[in-house]
Amino acid sequence: KLPSVGIVGATGAVGVQLIKCLEVRGFPLSSLRLFASARSAGKRLPFRGQDLIVEELGSRSFEGLDIALFSAGGSTSREYIPIAAKAGTVSIDNSSAFRMTDGVPLIVPEVNPQALGPDDKIIANPNCSTIIALVPLWPIHQRLSISRVVVSTYQAASGAGAAGMAELEHSTRAHLAGEAFAPQVFPHSYAFNVFSHNSKVDIEDGDNEEEAKMLKETRKIFSAPGFRISATCVRVPVMRAHCESLHVECEKPVDLEEVRGILSNAPGVRIVDDRAGNKFPMPVEASGQDDILVGRLRMDTTDPTNRSFWMFVSGDQLLKGAALNAVQIAELLLQK
Ligand code: A2P
Repeated sequence: KLPSVGIVGATGAVGVQLIKCLEVRGFPLSSLRLFASARSAGKRLPFRGQDLIVEELGSRSFEGLDIALFSAGGSTSREYIPIAAKAGTVSIDNSSAFRMTDGVPLIVPEVNPQALGPDDKIIANPNCSTIIALVPLWPIHQRLSISRVVVSTYQAASGAGAAGMAELEHSTRAHLAGEAFAPQVFPHSYAFNVFSHNSKVDIEDGDNEEEAKMLKETRKIFSAPGFRISATCVRVPVMRAHCESLHVECEKPVDLEEVRGILSNAPGVRIVDDRAGNKFPMPVEASGQDDILVGRLRMDTTDPTNRSFWMFVSGDQLLKGAALNAVQIAELLLQK
């Protein structure tokens, strides 16, 4: 019997991509139901040539639902996922609410599919920056044993949802028109600017939550409690694909051709590394793509032990960073 599927937060930036991913991938389902807040009830969204009507989310929404894909923020997940679990629905959660909870698997299908158990009722989708880094890092780690990663992110507006994307557009228009613009989603003016990630900063150690997530989540996904990955997370005025600069240090000397070979066979990775043409991963090319683009592969020549190299990646925050990864988890669930 095919599963019945629901999307919670269907009208959001990720929700719309969840609908598209289910359609494009031909996900086998008996019915799809769309949920959002009361504000969106009655709205129509297309799926497989039909208009589906958005329903207001409520505590009875999960009756008869096999799988719920949640992307409506942490507080909605915390309130409704336990209700869904009681109704027998398996939730795949895009928020950070349950990611670090013991017993909740945190899954990137290319990395740790084995962590998903057949009886899991709550499955967490990792943070977007974490997923985009780990898809290329994992096959390298398996073959070359990474000892340390230093990462700087260049994060798009889409990570802050539809309202974040609208704010980038509106603040840019205002800036070009010479008009004043009061930011509402982000703490700073977004147009023609770069600022430290808008998550809470820990006053003691100075890391923001995004940076802390990259460390904690990587350790959980890799099942490597001592794994070293240190991040600086930054917003750039880009609509929907994140970039990351990764400095990777391995246990042993690195042969860059071997790294290239590993990445060219890695699932979910596409190499874009044209030195002569000075063309490397860019958000305008990563947007709308399933693969993580990887390039700027070069040795760190200042490491006399030849164990360090650089790479630059770009991945669609709304797809592999969110919706696509969640739908791949649902596909994995059906296989199990
Ligand atoms: P709505 O459009 O009705 O506000 P984004 O990540 O782009 O900000 O989208 C958030 C999604 O979560 C939207 O679909 C939004 O619905 C939904 N949402 C927000 N709050 C709630 C809530 N309390 N109950 C149900 N859905 C919610």
